[in-house]
Amino acid sequence: MACPRLQATVRPGRAASREGGPAGASLVPALPARAGRAPVIRMSEISRLLILIGSVRDGRFGPVVASWVADRAREHGAFEVDLMDLAGVEIPLALPAESPKMAGEAYPRPAGMADLTARRDAADAFVLVTPEYNHSYPASLKAAIDWHFTQWKAKPVAFVSYGGAAGGRHAVLHLENVLTELHAVTIREGLAFPSYWANFEDGEPLDPQAPAYAKVLLDQLAWWAAALRKARSESAYPG
Ligand SMILES: Cc1cc2nc3c(=O)[nH]c(=O)nc-3n(C[C@H](O)[C@H](O)[C@H](O)COP(=O)(O)O)c2cc1C
Repeated sequence: MACPRLQATVRPGRAASREGGPAGASLVPALPARAGRAPVIRMSEISRLLILIGSVRDGRFGPVVASWVADRAREHGAFEVDLMDLAGVEIPLALPAESPKMAGEAYPRPAGMADLTARRDAADAFVLVTPEYNHSYPASLKAAIDWHFTQWKAKPVAFVSYGGAAGGRHAVLHLENVLTELHAVTIREGLAFPSYWANFEDGEPLDPQAPAYAKVLLDQLAWWAAALRKARSESAYPG
């Protein structure tokens, strides 16, 4: 099957491993049927969404993808959108002696990370925008993840990836695994942009279906964000 320009994320660890092989064949699932009326979003359901740009290298493409996703999230209506670039954050590779899981609030983070920590604390949901480096995600993103623990707990995380033929899906598989350890809830639908250099123009994906795929991801993320915020406010998460 030809590789489409944009794919709703194929999750090789789940459905796609059964349907399309371990590398994730080019599956383009049909968009779920929509109810006749648009859902009404109450103010109490507005969730704070933190979108993180995971790559920090010179000349990176990440901000282009993240900016497009942030615009879709603002249009969606269920989110207060916060777009953050890891390139501006102090993220040392050397971690303190104790783990953030054990240290909790007392975890000694560098001053240049305080803003990232506060914005993660405030977030109800996350979108991680990641490229694929050597069949995984960038070290910058791993380091940023490892400096935090409670900030991920019982919160939903969606993935938007880009790269070569696989569209960053190997990176997303690794992220799903890591975020499960942190008690985050990973969203099934995602966006993967294969060969992004040929399929983006003026900051927009060329595939006309891209906004519709983004909406499916954001609908699921909004549902989980509202549900988990309510659950966290009602009782402590047992983990
Ligand atoms: C160190 C490195 C390793 C890469 N490995 C892969 C890879 O395994 N698969 C892939 O699809 N693209 C790979 N690429 C290509 C990247 O997906 C592409 O360069 C992309 O632009 C990187 O995102 P960025 O520009 O935001 O840093 C690699 C790029 C770099 C710099």
